[in-house]
Amino acid sequence: MTTMPQAKYRKDYQTPDYTIDEVDLDIRLQDHQTLVSSRLTVRRQGEHNEPLRLDGEALKLINIELDGEVLSEHRFQVVNNQLQIDDVPEAFELLIITQLDPANNSALEGLYKSGGAFCTQCEAEGFRRITYYLDRPDVLAVFTTRLQADKDKYPYLLANGNKTDSGELENGQHWVSWHDPHPKPCYLFAVVAGDFDLLEDSYRTKHGRDVALQLFVDKGNLGRAEFAMRSLKAAMKWDEVRFNLVYDLDIYMIVAVDFFNMGAMENKGLNVFNAKYVLADAKTATDQDFLNVESVIGHEYFHNWTGNRITCRDWFQLSLKEGLTVFRDQEFSGDMSMRPVHRIQDVRIMRTHQFHEDSSPMAHPIRPDKVIEMNNFYTVTVYNKGAEVIRMLHSLLDEQGFQKGMQLYVERHDGQAVTCEDFVCAMEDANSTELRQFRRWYEQAGTPVLSITESYDASAERYTLHCRQHTAATPGQKKKQAFHIPLRVHFYSDSGELLKLTSDELKNDILQLTEEQQDFVFEKVKEKPVPGLLAGFSAPVKLDYEYQEKQLLTLLAYSQDPFICWDAAQQVYLQAMKKAIAAGSPVQLSQASLDALKHKLENQQSDPALVSLLLQIPSEESLSGEYDVIPVADIHRVCGELKQLLASELEKELKETYSSCHPQGAYQFAPTDIAQRMLANTCLAFLANLKNPEITALLERQFSKADNMTDELAAMQAAVHANHTSADNMLREFAAKWQSNSLVMDKWLATQASAARSSTLDSVKQLTSHGAFSWQNPNRIYSLVATFTHNLAQLHREDGEGYRWLREVIVRLNSSNPQVASRLVTALLQWRRFDEKRQTLLKQELKTLQELPDLASDLYEKVEQSLQQD
Ligand code: TRP
Ligand code: ZN
Repeated sequence: MTTMPQAKYRKDYQTPDYTIDEVDLDIRLQDHQTLVSSRLTVRRQGEHNEPLRLDGEALKLINIELDGEVLSEHRFQVVNNQLQIDDVPEAFELLIITQLDPANNSALEGLYKSGGAFCTQCEAEGFRRITYYLDRPDVLAVFTTRLQADKDKYPYLLANGNKTDSGELENGQHWVSWHDPHPKPCYLFAVVAGDFDLLEDSYRTKHGRDVALQLFVDKGNLGRAEFAMRSLKAAMKWDEVRFNLVYDLDIYMIVAVDFFNMGAMENKGLNVFNAKYVLADAKTATDQDFLNVESVIGHEYFHNWTGNRITCRDWFQLSLKEGLTVFRDQEFSGDMSMRPVHRIQDVRIMRTHQFHEDSSPMAHPIRPDKVIEMNNFYTVTVYNKGAEVIRMLHSLLDEQGFQKGMQLYVERHDGQAVTCEDFVCAMEDANSTELRQFRRWYEQAGTPVLSITESYDASAERYTLHCRQHTAATPGQKKKQAFHIPLRVHFYSDSGELLKLTSDELKNDILQLTEEQQDFVFEKVKEKPVPGLLAGFSAPVKLDYEYQEKQLLTLLAYSQDPFICWDAAQQVYLQAMKKAIAAGSPVQLSQASLDALKHKLENQQSDPALVSLLLQIPSEESLSGEYDVIPVADIHRVCGELKQLLASELEKELKETYSSCHPQGAYQFAPTDIAQRMLANTCLAFLANLKNPEITALLERQFSKADNMTDELAAMQAAVHANHTSADNMLREFAAKWQSNSLVMDKWLATQASAARSSTLDSVKQLTSHGAFSWQNPNRIYSLVATFTHNLAQLHREDGEGYRWLREVIVRLNSSNPQVASRLVTALLQWRRFDEKRQTLLKQELKTLQELPDLASDLYEKVEQSLQQD
């Protein structure tokens, strides 16, 4: 019997009637008939004699025994993915045997096969696909796991905690048992079985514990695992120094797998990683890939405290661990290298993806109130906006106050499953402050718009900032209350000196906005300042202040805050593009703006990475965020025009910079080299639009001579994105060279899916039958299909072919991998933001999906939510 997926509400939380203190698992691994015996020590917690209800999905139940006695069929029932047993004692032992078919598990949730290896993914609710259990994060148990499998095929048998015993059996089988002393929720359970190459190292904690570090990768990949190992040791050290958090087991294992729905998973002592966040060497990985490895390795390691030792009470609290852990990995990356680059990249994610989500039918607060499918809430809102909320706390309390709060949080809640509220309370108590209004960041969805005007009274020497905040309605939340917004401001004179303005309300450069409307008055101001507003992107808001071009150029030239400097350039571009769209005329930049950019290029030595970032124009997707109804063709036109314009106007400076800033010597992953490659490759991308023989020679030389993937890929991308005549040749050569490396071929797929050509959809369709593509592997699908969904002009073709093809893809993935299908459907949900013709086409595809028999809950939730507001 199929029932409609049911919503759960945060307000309905109740402590579980039963809890489980110990779990003893015995898993006999086989491709199609894995047997799982689970021995549970269960204890009643509730007042009433409620039935015991265990979660279970897609399981074949073989046997149940209660306190050693087989339960006959009338003692239990299985309804709606729950196993219900009516009369149970206060405390008892339950033995449950289930049978699984991991080789046919294409959803990659629960126990599945990745290539030749068995592995698991239990977050959020995947453990119920392994055995019947109280699959909720507030049930903490001590796990013991015994694994048995064929010894030749699966020489390594891994689980959480410490290895306790092992042995060999007849008929080629062997077994290993593991014990994890730390009570944990079942979403942190993991097993892996396979044949790997193993990179080993060790780390001595500041408490003197020697931790064995083991990194398991597919055979032949040891050389590409070293950077991940270095990053891990750096992360362990960093957490000790900056957060005083120390590792707590004698072993830390990481396994890289090819088939994985997300980035990586922080299972206690046994992280499972998408191989693309482990494997990196100069030849096959770009600088950005290296940085991503560093950040994801850090992220999963940091979860050991923020997520594992202190976990979530319920899934509505997901941002408790994810927002905080993203904040921690961002700080780790920033402390390791190039802090401004990381910050600007994080802001880009917020502005393009998170703001976009806030304006979509799936808009939700960082702590959602209503969920149908939990997998749908691993979002940029929960993760990245969640991190921005933590960052605001950090700004309000400063590093010292924030760390005091962290210390109290850990002291109070170690070993518990807690809420976002508990976290905020710890911050308040440790700092003897109150954050009542600040809590609205957890409650209200949407992007606040901060409108600022100013007035200056020269005779009174008084300067006033008039601030208004407004947050548009989001689904289910009509009226919003004012947020507590830390607004970091710097002031400059017209000639670029930093001015020290004073006001009682300005502390550490921060104004605290708490009202819908608020004025801030500064006295003794001798000249009208240029305000650098929202320095460091101090709050996840949209700033609405009418900067004059002259002010922007002052900030671009002189701001000491890299974000403000970068944003000034972005505003110059946005203003030019919006003006061109409004007037239906070609994009123009003033001579003053061009001169300012030339000046930056000529003086790039001080910060080539920042110059690279500030030259890059906003993507079509981020420009679309400026419009209620997205003018697809106009956006496509002006982005193309602006690139062309910058290339021709700055040709001389771009060429000079290109040849002067390429690092000398062999490839090195070092900040100064990375920054130089960034700038050189940004210059090359502009120059590729010029299409003269000299540029062709530059492009082709870099493509064929590069000793590293950063430069090789950059040349190919520059050619493809500029529709350069060399593009097709490069694509061909690249494929011939890299056909046996699937992670590199992902870049090849993505490059073609992002091409601004009217033939892009056709090539994408054709690529689905290329040997480099597979419908089974999420990395391949994300590279080709998800990249295409971000190609604004090609997805939103007027003839609706982009939509139709995407819907077909989603139908196909609905049955094989609903999590991946659900990530792709996002592109179709925003029909309200397009013209009528596209609205009709989009809604038609959504309705087709809605009528699909066996629509997965992941897709059901999003499609319903999108069409509901019709
Ligand atoms: N907790 C993981 C992280 O560190 C997220 C994750 C990994 C996940 N795999 C998943 C979430 C599968 C849902 C489903 O961010
Ligand atoms: Zn995480």
